[in-house]
Amino acid sequence: MRMSVIGCGYLGAVHAAAMASIGHEVVGIDVDESKVARLSRGEAPFFEPGLDDLLRSGIADGRLSFSTDMADAVGAEVHFLAVGTPQSSDGDAADLRFVWAAVEGLLPHLRQGDVVAGKSTVPVGTAEEIADRIASAGATLVWNPEFLREGWAVHDTLTPDRIVVGVPDGDAGLRAAGMLRSAYRTAAETDTPFLVTDLATAELVKGAANAFLATKISFINAMAEIADAAGADVTLLAEALGHDGRIGHRYLGSGIGFGGGCLPKDIRAFAARAEALGRGESVGFLREVDAINLRRRDRAVQLVIDALGGRVFGRRVAVLGAAFKPFSDDIRDSPALDVAVRLRGLGADVVVADPAAIDNAEAAHPQLAYARATDDALRDADAVVVVTEWDEYRRDLTPAHAGSLVRQRVVIDGRNCLDAAAWRAAGWTYRGMGRR
Ligand code: UGA
Repeated sequence: MRMSVIGCGYLGAVHAAAMASIGHEVVGIDVDESKVARLSRGEAPFFEPGLDDLLRSGIADGRLSFSTDMADAVGAEVHFLAVGTPQSSDGDAADLRFVWAAVEGLLPHLRQGDVVAGKSTVPVGTAEEIADRIASAGATLVWNPEFLREGWAVHDTLTPDRIVVGVPDGDAGLRAAGMLRSAYRTAAETDTPFLVTDLATAELVKGAANAFLATKISFINAMAEIADAAGADVTLLAEALGHDGRIGHRYLGSGIGFGGGCLPKDIRAFAARAEALGRGESVGFLREVDAINLRRRDRAVQLVIDALGGRVFGRRVAVLGAAFKPFSDDIRDSPALDVAVRLRGLGADVVVADPAAIDNAEAAHPQLAYARATDDALRDADAVVVVTEWDEYRRDLTPAHAGSLVRQRVVIDGRNCLDAAAWRAAGWTYRGMGRR
């Protein structure tokens, strides 16, 4: 099939490359010239394992190209909308400016019978509004939410857990669902569940999925608060809970909480939309989920203050991690960087290390000091704070080696990812988040 992907960020670039890799002819379109130039050279403009290879082979095969010109979408049968929907600057709702700009930009280039597939995360009801504009060009709008995780984006795009397609009523909707089935033919061949719904349900599936994941993380972090007060260990609690098949182990990782470009803004937008629908009370708990999550950052900072005897001013603190999670260079709403910024604000001499996100972190927070090598961050530190559970810290950093570099053996494990017993045995004062 011939396809266009409008918006080549974390979602669109991966989607374009993945679609080309399964045999489609794809053009990715973005307004950012430097991003398009990099993508056209086969270079991922952000850290995403496996994406460079996919880009290069798609371009070499002649199936994948990138452009800044919306007119290059002409001829595609399916147009995916993959632009960002950040949080509004003046509230919790989603800012749909880029979605509407993409729709209006695409409109003159649509042809009778084309399908426009929205992948951006939007508040329920948005698709219904866009559908009329798309129909005015003789095309059909479907909503096809994306569930990929950064760091696993290639894997999640090529082998999704499920494919959801919301379609309008009638023949046009059925035909569009058939085209999406062809677009995702490889997934369909492996019996990936393919759910066809109405437009509103498809939009809701995405919001509800992220709300559920955020709630699960905040649930275990709330238990970490209780564990702290009661002298229990939240990691053992999570282990025991997860063995119940109805609960499961995934997304029970406690620590400084969730961040990134999705979960935080999506739960706020979801709550804002529910309020606009007169159903704010139905998801009132999401406000609590958000509050629990943000308290985790305060807690991590407090642990550092306590560990340093009540005052961090002038003390050197090595912050290991800047990305919002491992295998990503994304620092949007990163709890890791937030902890670093707060400690710096309290006068600590903070040095941040991260295997992938230093450039992004430095651009956003030039007031912080950065170290390219972990050892340089650790040297002469009075406290070490692990805030992103990269393998480099969780697995590769030994307490003995770290101990040979620091001034004082104090470690705060903001992700509950270190072997507490091993660090204590090596003479470290170890503090986790909700761990004895
Ligand atoms: C999330 C969802 O997992 C995807 O399904 C969804 O498609 C995506 O948002 C999106 O809406 O685009 P992502 O933001 O890439 O994906 O990252 P996650 O792996 O979900 O992690 C989110 C945050 O939660 C990270 O800060 C991570 O450190 C934190 N987390 C995750 C925990 O604190 N504990 C856990 O057990 C798991």
